[in-house]
Amino acid sequence: MSKPIFAANWKMHLGPDAAREFLRTFLESYPPAGDREVWFFPAAVALETVARALADRSDIRVGAQNVHWEPKGAFTGELAVSMARAAGAQAALVGHSERRHVFGETDEETGRKVRALLEGGLIPMLCVGEKIEEREARATLKVVQRQLAVLDGLDSGVLERIPIAYEPVWAIGTGKTATPDDAAEVHAAIRAWLGERGADAAAVRVLYGGSVKPDNVAALIAEPQIDGVLVGGASLNPVAWSEMARVALD
Ligand code: 13P
Repeated sequence: MSKPIFAANWKMHLGPDAAREFLRTFLESYPPAGDREVWFFPAAVALETVARALADRSDIRVGAQNVHWEPKGAFTGELAVSMARAAGAQAALVGHSERRHVFGETDEETGRKVRALLEGGLIPMLCVGEKIEEREARATLKVVQRQLAVLDGLDSGVLERIPIAYEPVWAIGTGKTATPDDAAEVHAAIRAWLGERGADAAAVRVLYGGSVKPDNVAALIAEPQIDGVLVGGASLNPVAWSEMARVALD
């Protein structure tokens, strides 16, 4: 069985000094764990600081929040895969709902980023999820399958290495969480989609994200379809995040 992932997406919070301070506190109460992984997605400017602070922790990975698909060029404000890697990133988020819905990123662009990351030796963590009006129109699975389609054409062995984060847009930063049952239904559909493309779906880690907090993480992670959590707001407090990442696994 693959290990569950407790992923912290810091979004536009915690620069290098604040990230260093965070990790000092976090590491005091988070000893190496063999049965799970913690992944941090800091702001680009703090990647190197975070990677250095965690260099001797093989149970903790560091990733970028976003990359561009081109290797270099006139793309003001963007981050190349090779730059993220040189700063210590091992992974990157792709298709986060804020990239899609605040910055207008398309499925096509998401697909290009997935391929650029794979070519550059970083693991893409692909985020998918429906908006509230899509859920109300019972279009959740259709939307998620459309977002997954950026993975079409990849070898099954590659598909198995790409964690998928299901983050319903209506649950992000709103305090509304999908129930473990709601998430399980979508996670099962994600696995079915991957299985149809030859992947060993049980090997793929499918995470849930959206208002995951200290008081609901245990119930979510206890659901067999949920192989981890992707956490925004509640990952910004080192004590709370350490507690969440140490939650009991059955
Ligand atoms: P919140 O945990 O703040 O709802 O954010 C979820 C998220 O977008 C993680 O990527």
